[in-house]
Amino acid sequence: MGYSIAASHAKGKCATDKIFGANGAAVKAVTEVGKERVVNATVGAILDDNEQLPCLATVEKVYRELAMKDVIAYAPISGLPTYLKASIDLNFADNKPAAYIDAIATAGGSGAVHHTIWNYSELGDTVLTSDWFWGPYRVLCNDMLRKLDTYTLFDEQMHFNLNAFEQKVASLLAKQDSLVVIINTPAHNPTGYSLTDSEWSAVLDVAKRVTLNPAKRLILLIDVAYIDYSGEKNATRSFMKLFEQLPANILAIFAASMSKGFTMYGQRVGAMIGVSADKDVIKEFVDINQYTSRATWSNINRGVQQVLATIYEDKQLLAKVEAERTVLYHMIRERAEIFMAEARQANLTMLPYIAGFFLTVPTKNSEAVCALLAKEYIFAVPLANGIRIAVCAVPKTKMIGMAAKFVQAIKAVE
Ligand SMILES: Cc1ncc(COP(=O)(O)O)c(C=O)c1O
Repeated sequence: MGYSIAASHAKGKCATDKIFGANGAAVKAVTEVGKERVVNATVGAILDDNEQLPCLATVEKVYRELAMKDVIAYAPISGLPTYLKASIDLNFADNKPAAYIDAIATAGGSGAVHHTIWNYSELGDTVLTSDWFWGPYRVLCNDMLRKLDTYTLFDEQMHFNLNAFEQKVASLLAKQDSLVVIINTPAHNPTGYSLTDSEWSAVLDVAKRVTLNPAKRLILLIDVAYIDYSGEKNATRSFMKLFEQLPANILAIFAASMSKGFTMYGQRVGAMIGVSADKDVIKEFVDINQYTSRATWSNINRGVQQVLATIYEDKQLLAKVEAERTVLYHMIRERAEIFMAEARQANLTMLPYIAGFFLTVPTKNSEAVCALLAKEYIFAVPLANGIRIAVCAVPKTKMIGMAAKFVQAIKAVE
């Protein structure tokens, strides 16, 4: 390392993002051989069949009709009250648990993950997530001087690995008094997996078992960034009803985001929604997270909070947004179904995809396989033990034949 004047905790930090790296290679290929020949499966945003970033039409209309004062004024640090109400109600739909619930506006879902780690794990502690996970979880932990550990997500039947989960949670809670566990469902990034209600019920039974000692605290951070592309609104939220009557030393926090569900990625609007059986826990949740907002970004984008409030308060607008989003949902599903059908035919192993922006092909040689695929102008993201394919971004016609190319590339490097 060269000359450095950074503080000791900051020295050497550099977020080299594999996703942006792979995307850069795809963009370069487009300039060389033209858009038609390049399959860019790296992008974590929806692209339509012309490879353009679509905005939900009603969201755009409401945004463009915002009063200028709603764009330029500061929002309250905790968020616009009407936005927070909308976020909570849209998060649960008809499945709101009977519990104390409150919310704080955050800079996207990322902000909710940030605040949860900062305020609910001790310095130096370990945060837990599954072995397939969204890379920034580790960056967020490291930056805040925490560690990230993982449990094996799938068992041999490719279902949620409850034993692995329980063992890791129990062993970490033997070493530390509080534990933040991040569960990204439904439509997990990068696999597309969604926990079933019975898996959730088993997870909550584990949570109750490991917190019988009141000195131990468990914080379940449920990252629902992709929930609006995971299936029917209430079916995909029915697990939320299970978060009733949990002991006071278990806190559930939902990390909600307008990035995907409202196609507002760059506007940085999200919310953290706390659920507890204990009134004091929720009062503290609001107080400490508002404080951290003040200390991190002050307040967030006001205009887009107002967009959500306006849409939520007008049921016709909301119905329109949902209908427009359903079109995108079906577009993504169709693409994933092409890959899944071809994978089945070609005996290509993939992780269990239920819904969402991504699917994953497991392989130990992901870098080498991706390098071979790049020669055919197919660009995907190499992960530690697999390759992530962003079906959200690849037009249907370009999905055809992709699974076979994966089979060839994997065989060639074996
Ligand atoms: C798993 C997961 N969680 C959360 C987010 C948060 O996104 P944002 O901060 O834009 O809301 C993303 C975005 O890529 C994601 O993939």
